[in-house]
Amino acid sequence: MKNKIFSTFYWKISGTFLLILIVLVGIFIYININSARRYYMEVNQKLNGDIAKHIEQEVHPFVNGKISKERVSDLMHRMMAVNPSIEIYLLDSLGVIKEHVAPYKKVKLTRVSLGPIKQFINSEGKEFIMGDDPRNPGRKKVFSASPVVQNGVLVGYLYVVLASEEYESASDTLFGSFILKIGTESMLIIVIAAAIIGLLMIWIITKNLNTIIQTVNKFKNGDHSARVHLRSKGEFSALADTFNEMADTTVKNMEGLKGLERLRRELLANVSHDLRTPITSIYGYTETLLLKNEHGEMSKEEHERYLNIILQNTDKLKKLVDELFEFSKLETKQIKFKPEPFSIAELVQDVTGKYKILADKKNIIIESILPENLPLIYADIALVDRAIQNLVDNAIKYTQEGGKVTFEFKQMKNSIEVNIKDTGCGIPEDDLPLIFDRYHKGNNNKENSSGFGLGLAIVKKILELHESFISVKSKLNEGTTFSFNLPLHTS
Ligand SMILES: Nc1ncnc2c1ncn2[C@@H]1O[C@H](COP(=O)(O)OP(=O)(O)OP(=O)(O)O)[C@@H](O)[C@H]1O
Ligand SMILES: [Mg+2]
Repeated sequence: MKNKIFSTFYWKISGTFLLILIVLVGIFIYININSARRYYMEVNQKLNGDIAKHIEQEVHPFVNGKISKERVSDLMHRMMAVNPSIEIYLLDSLGVIKEHVAPYKKVKLTRVSLGPIKQFINSEGKEFIMGDDPRNPGRKKVFSASPVVQNGVLVGYLYVVLASEEYESASDTLFGSFILKIGTESMLIIVIAAAIIGLLMIWIITKNLNTIIQTVNKFKNGDHSARVHLRSKGEFSALADTFNEMADTTVKNMEGLKGLERLRRELLANVSHDLRTPITSIYGYTETLLLKNEHGEMSKEEHERYLNIILQNTDKLKKLVDELFEFSKLETKQIKFKPEPFSIAELVQDVTGKYKILADKKNIIIESILPENLPLIYADIALVDRAIQNLVDNAIKYTQEGGKVTFEFKQMKNSIEVNIKDTGCGIPEDDLPLIFDRYHKGNNNKENSSGFGLGLAIVKKILELHESFISVKSKLNEGTTFSFNLPLHTS
């Protein structure tokens, strides 16, 4: 199939090329023959233009205005012997043929048009002029002519056709052999050379094109490593480079899509796993609770413990679903960004207040270092609230009992820098570049298997919306600091 494309393509171009070559050769031969013939006739007329005048002067075929039979017959004999290639006509002053010296041939015209004869006489044989051929009406021939004037009166013309029929057939044969010689030798050599070079060039061009077609087909059939390698440079190498670039981009995009697809599959697995754990727990405890209650074997404390476990798991489930929902909204840009002026210190105060019970449980102190007169910032309060919650949540989660979480604020030129510092377990260096990726859970998160690894990805997206970013510094077993800037409110 591929070779078929190549061969038909090759033969189409080659066929067209050969046809053009043949037509051009034909036109060339035609022009050549015609101009050679014309040149031959022109030379003939130039050389023999005076012949009519000479004959008239030598023979004087007119005597007292009348044709002398004697002299004409004498002329006939002389011409037959000396130059049989010419035909002599004696015309009266109106161009009517009165006598002719053209043996054995039938003269069909009775009259010759005087226009060309007069033009010839006026130009004194310098112009190339063709006149009537009395034997072939409609055909034109080169001639010589001379007026016959006796006693000051024009009595007629001597009209000599220079290329008689015998002459023509002889020159035709000559032309034939000449063209044949040129045609069969030099012309043939040139044409064959042109054809060989042309076909070779076409072969080289179509070969490159064929390589490209084959590679494109390979790529189409699933060989994504197929690239075009051409030896020669030129238009086709530009086409090949473009294809190669296109193939690289396509492969890159395909790999990107594959990566995304893998991520989605991982998410689905993670989500179902992370949701199943609290659901199983809620289901198991509720079932046991109902059973034990039915048989009245449950103490009040046990009852309360069971309900607490169910509550904790429901809370976990709610947190998971909220986080997932929040992230998907941020990722698909379904969140409306509504910035307003507010105090970041007050917001942090609110958030830490909410986490106080959790922090107290782990005996963790949360404190804020506030410079005086901290100006307002201009940001989306709900989103910043969410970001700080996620960071405090992490700080408490990854800090051991008795640790400390500190908020520090620094006023910069156009913004306020917020630092959240903990004395927790720290993040391993290899993990640092990955913690802001979605669904990434660090190695230090083994026992805290709750969460999707979305908290920091959400923080990153929220800060991107504020045209800001988050940075992290961490030392294993010493602690971690997250920092970000939010714009100042300018009134
Ligand atoms: N303050 C911190 N100290 C140590 N490690 C941290 C801290 N904050 C984040 N990490 C590491 O970064 C990872 C990603 O954090 P992220 O908040 O995105 O996910 P998560 O806390 O595991 O789950 P989620 O926040 O979705 O409940 C964590 O699993 C943890 O390994
Ligand atoms: Mg988290």
